[in-house]
This record gives sequence, C-alpha cells and structure tokens, in this order.
Amino acid sequence: MKELKPTVLKIGGSVVTNKGKELKAQMQVISRLVEEIQKANVQNLIVVHGGGSFGHPFAQRYGVTEGFKEETQKIGFSETHHIMTVLNGLFMDALIWRNIPAVSVTPSSCIITNNGRIQRFEDAPLKMLLKLGFLPVLYGDAVLDSKLGFTILSGDQLVSVLATSFHSEHIIIGVDVDGLYDDDPKIKKTAKLFRHLTLEELKRLRSKFGKSTMCDVTGGMFSKIAELLPAIELGIPVTIVNATKPNYIYKVLTGKKVKQTLIEKE
Ligand code: IPE
Repeated sequence: MKELKPTVLKIGGSVVTNKGKELKAQMQVISRLVEEIQKANVQNLIVVHGGGSFGHPFAQRYGVTEGFKEETQKIGFSETHHIMTVLNGLFMDALIWRNIPAVSVTPSSCIITNNGRIQRFEDAPLKMLLKLGFLPVLYGDAVLDSKLGFTILSGDQLVSVLATSFHSEHIIIGVDVDGLYDDDPKIKKTAKLFRHLTLEELKRLRSKFGKSTMCDVTGGMFSKIAELLPAIELGIPVTIVNATKPNYIYKVLTGKKVKQTLIEKE
C-alpha cells in the first residue's frame, strides 16, 4: 500500500468549458490535459474540476448557493448536480479512454456542508482509491447543507480540504491566465503577474486581485485563492498555472517551472 500525500490538481471551469457559452465543453482542451496527466505519470494524484458554463448558470438560475427557500428550487438542485455529472462524465471518458484508472468520487454523496463550509466528509473510499493507485476525480458540486438545506461547494474549497487532510505535497491550480495578477489581465493589459508570493504577501495583496467577469457563483480568482490559505499555512505550496497553454500542466506536474505564480508559506 502506498503512502498518501497526493498532489491535488484543480482544473478550473474556465479551462474545461467556454465560460461565455452555456453547456459548451472544451473537448480538445480536456483531451490534451488528459494526455498531459498521462505523460506526467504522477503516482499519487487527485484531480478536481470546476463547473464553468455547466454548473454555474444552473446554480445561479435556481439560487442553489443561497439554500433551500422554495419547492421550485429542488429541480434546480437536481439539474445543477446532474449537469456536473455530465461534465464530469466527459472528463472521465477522456481519462478512461486513455487507459488511466480514474474513478469519479461524487462530492454530493460523501460531503455535507454547514453554511457552505465542509462539515462532514466520508473520505474512506477516496483513501482506498489512492492507496490502490487509482486516480480519484472530484468536482465542484451541488451538495446538502445542514443549515441551508443545500448549497454549492466550490472545487477550490474541496481542493483545500483534500490537501490539508491528506497532507499534500503540492497544490496545482490550472486556470485560463498565467497566474495571479495585481489586476484583471483580461481587462487591463498592464496587469502585473506575481511570480512568487509568500503567505504574508498574499494576505496583504488580497484586496487588489481581480474578480471573475463571467457568470460565477463561487467568486472570482481572489476568493478562489483565499480558499487555499489554510493549506498554504500548513506549508503546502500552491502553483497557479495557465492550463490552456499546451504542456504547462505537464511541466508543473513533473516539477518544472513555467510562467506561473508560486505561493509558499515563507
Ligand atoms: C462550481 O465549482 C460548481 C458548481 C457551480 C456546481 P467551481 O467554483 O470550482 O468551478 P469553476 O472552476 O469556478 O468553474
């Protein structure tokens, strides 16, 4: 049986879907990323993907994040969860077709949140999958919540909890820009990329980070990275990298440097 300490790789919804077009998956990007994961051959890896134009528009339409207030939302909860299983299925197809022993772990079936924060996580199957050398794949999902009835759990909160509870070696966040900037690089061409940040610097720079412009019910880039603070505090390094650029994820998975942001405790 292998030791745990997996690398946790999050692939943002803006990478695997076209955030501007509802239900538009980026099939070529998914397939290239799967090739990179295969080529990197990391022994101990957990993949988490976001919702992009699958999960977010449905969650927003039915107010799933705000919780259960009226009966009509129930079908919205079902739809949001279902559409995430559809996106996840596309990812799983690509992985298994390439002979990668990946297994989907459905967050809504093993996690309960309390006011949006993970409260209970039945992680025994996930641990067994890792020990047996499978590649567990999770995703941001519509989950049950002990206070709100239900809500949305972001892939980023999931990454942080997985990394801290499994004492990860490394967190890699694949997004559609080169890393963390002092402004939104999609709007301001002069935005400056931070190549390296310490925890203290990250905390100081908080208010400057740009917000996501598209439909996103779990917050922009800043709140996504803020989710990772507990993991960084534990000494787990976080690399934010452009997953839309070929071979960047492969290089970071195999310990090489690319144009990126590295965040370390000190
Ligand atoms: C959101 O997950 C999941 C749903 C809206 C159901 P994330 O917040 O991790 O997704 P992205 O990466 O921002 O698209």
